Amino acid sequence: MLHSRPVASIDESNGYEKIAADYIARRGSKSGGIGARVVADWSQQLPAGGSILDVGCGNGIPISEVLIERGFQVYGVDASQAMVEGFRARFPGVPVQCSSVDDSDFFGRSFDAVVAWGVVFLLAEDAQRRLLAKIGGVLRSGGLLLFTAPRQRCSWSDAMTGERSVSLGDEEYQRVLESAGLVVTGTESDEGENHYYLARMD
Ligand SMILES: C[S@@+](CC[C@H](N)C(=O)[O-])C[C@H]1O[C@@H](n2cnc3c(N)ncnc32)[C@H](O)[C@@H]1O
Repeated sequence: MLHSRPVASIDESNGYEKIAADYIARRGSKSGGIGARVVADWSQQLPAGGSILDVGCGNGIPISEVLIERGFQVYGVDASQAMVEGFRARFPGVPVQCSSVDDSDFFGRSFDAVVAWGVVFLLAEDAQRRLLAKIGGVLRSGGLLLFTAPRQRCSWSDAMTGERSVSLGDEEYQRVLESAGLVVTGTESDEGENHYYLARMD
């Protein structure tokens, strides 16, 4: 007799589904947290009411929140069900998809901007390259990208999940962005020592 076994589900959130409640209690419950000011300032260059994809949006606080408050059309994607439920509860009516970046059909749309705060370096190296290439595919001409990643090539254990994070390093990020059709317009660090890349679609 054949017994069917439940298929173990793969965690595409890189450990964040398990710690979502804690993450939301710490970062996702305070408006204006680290990154909010940088993203708000960056968004001033965008057309009024423009569309922005928030990759790895979490529950939307504080990054999506500052953009929604400024009248942008935000689309969120996150692989953690608990994070997405939190997003829906906080921002009813704002489109958000529970999906890995690899599978999200939001990458079939086009956007004026993409923001990816605290997520790119959670992905495996090849997945990061794929994601940045896909971002190049959704940005309109003149569209903007902001994402965080350490400047130096390095790997470390994520403080909350214990999972491996990796930065491809400045040289490789610049190379990957260029081959995706993006021009790097700046790199900076914020008050929380998050290093971020600013790029524009040619
Ligand atoms: C450090 S949190 C950042 C959340 C939010 N951007 C912020 O600034 O608070 C990383 C988020 O990326 C999501 N994530 C991780 N891997 C992902 C993947 N492969 N596809 C989509 N989302 C992913 C996690 O579920 C988590 O919500």
